[in-house]
Amino acid sequence: MRKIVILASGNGSNAEQIIKYFFYHEFITVAAVFSNKADAFVLKRAEKYGIPHTVFSRDDLYRTNRVQRLLADISPDLIVLAGFLWLIPKDLIGLYPNRIINIHPALLPKYGGKGMYGDRVHKAVIDNREEESGITIHYVNEKYDAGDIIHQEKCRVTAEDTPETLAGKIHKIEHEAYPQIIESVIMGG
Ligand code: GRF
Repeated sequence: MRKIVILASGNGSNAEQIIKYFFYHEFITVAAVFSNKADAFVLKRAEKYGIPHTVFSRDDLYRTNRVQRLLADISPDLIVLAGFLWLIPKDLIGLYPNRIINIHPALLPKYGGKGMYGDRVHKAVIDNREEESGITIHYVNEKYDAGDIIHQEKCRVTAEDTPETLAGKIHKIEHEAYPQIIESVIMGG
């Protein structure tokens, strides 16, 4: 079995779609969900599907290498960021070259970078009167939202859109696309 570890900080709707998609998959399994927030709803979702889950601290990731050791125990084929808000440290990227991916709720390179997450992204898109937005799935490097792009999909932004309605459109595209792209990255690599 090829193994995925999901890193998520919050609600985890993407994580749940990924868990569901691979639940009965022949070759790929979600081995664990890691979160940096003890009260993140993603942990409840992992529990619902019986997926092992772990909470880690800033020190665990940036100082003591606990996260790196937990990952080494699993030996994942792909690390999937799904609403994970901390920067992935360089050493971790070096350990998993081209094996860490992220999803961003806009058409990178626009509307990315530090502090650009959640409704802040959608608000900026609307404030700039963009006519389209979308999703970007990309490899993770040492900068926020700057790694090589794997896949993008667009949606229209209308004058009636609010950050909430735009987020809804984008989540719908994300939920459909992310599991499939994960599958093709793993099976292709
Ligand atoms: C998604 O929109 C994703 O693009 C971004 O964070 C959001 C996470 O949403 N990186 P959820 O927690 O999966 O519902």
